[in-house]
Amino acid sequence: MKVLVTGVKGQLGYDVVKELNRRGIDNTGADIEEFDITNYNMTHDYIAGYDPDVVVHCSAYTAVDKAEDNIDICNAVNVDGPSNIAKVCKELDCKMLYISTDYVFPGTGDRFYETDDETGPLGQYGRSKLNGEKAVTSVLDKYFIIRTSWVFGINGNNFIKTMLRVGKERDEVSVVCDQIGSPTYTVDLARLICDMIVTDKYGIYHGTNEDICSWAEFTEEIYRQAGYDTKVKHVTTEEYGAKAPRPANSRLSKKKLDENGFARLPGWKDALTRYLKELEENG
Ligand SMILES: NC(=O)c1ccc[n+]([C@@H]2O[C@H](COP(=O)([O-])OP(=O)(O)OC[C@H]3O[C@@H](n4cnc5c(N)ncnc54)[C@H](OP(=O)(O)O)[C@@H]3O)[C@@H](O)[C@H]2O)c1
Repeated sequence: MKVLVTGVKGQLGYDVVKELNRRGIDNTGADIEEFDITNYNMTHDYIAGYDPDVVVHCSAYTAVDKAEDNIDICNAVNVDGPSNIAKVCKELDCKMLYISTDYVFPGTGDRFYETDDETGPLGQYGRSKLNGEKAVTSVLDKYFIIRTSWVFGINGNNFIKTMLRVGKERDEVSVVCDQIGSPTYTVDLARLICDMIVTDKYGIYHGTNEDICSWAEFTEEIYRQAGYDTKVKHVTTEEYGAKAPRPANSRLSKKKLDENGFARLPGWKDALTRYLKELEENG
């Protein structure tokens, strides 16, 4: 089996390639230097040249606040990109795994979203990722979609790295306490992706680390495990005032993973422990 991974210079793509290598699965990782996914001809020629059995599509425009102003580039990367890849996969009769997000949901209420619940993104990033899903499902039958959330990995910037940096500089940090979700370690998500692509259990899934928290609770646990005494001030989304609206409820049900015999990811606190160790080992 040959797997092509996009976004290898980002957080998730990097760990998917590592996991494929660990499993001895033939693969190649690509990023914008290899081909720009917004350009159909480049995308076609690169993928057809490698002729994979599966494309794991991890590249994306992920700047949630900036997306509100940069609508065209966001749509080009997050909608035209997956659409281009899906068309090539169709031509090559190859599977595609597309990574999506909790931001496709409006985040009302407090129950866990099922994979077939009604979507309703609040902002441009979520809208573009949902339209990316639709671009994939309208072209392909052999697709997997995994909606994940609050991603952290060694290769790139993320919330944990930011909190560790500001926690060193300040006695107290203000963090949002009314958005609830699940942090997700790319090492654990990469394992699920590699479990999934060797099957033909196509469809839409949710894949995050287990258990839920608010961003403020997440930060308190980061500081506890890292040995910081920085205080965390709980503030509301309104008080914090980010540019892009974000769902208050990002609880994602894993029923579909269970039904199809895929192992759930470990709890997020355990994932955080392993991630902090990885950060330390990487200096
Ligand atoms: N990060 C999160 O918290 C989060 C939450 C839910 C879902 N997700 C989804 O999870 C997936 C992986 O996220 P991540 O955090 O690993 O992303 P990331 O670290 O931002 O990496 C994305 C990669 O895509 C590349 N890219 C951007 N535009 C491209 C283009 N036109 N052609 C080719 N490559 C391009 C980026 O390159 P440049 O850096 O040069 O732009 C970057 O290397 C994405 O689908 C994302 O939407 C992420």
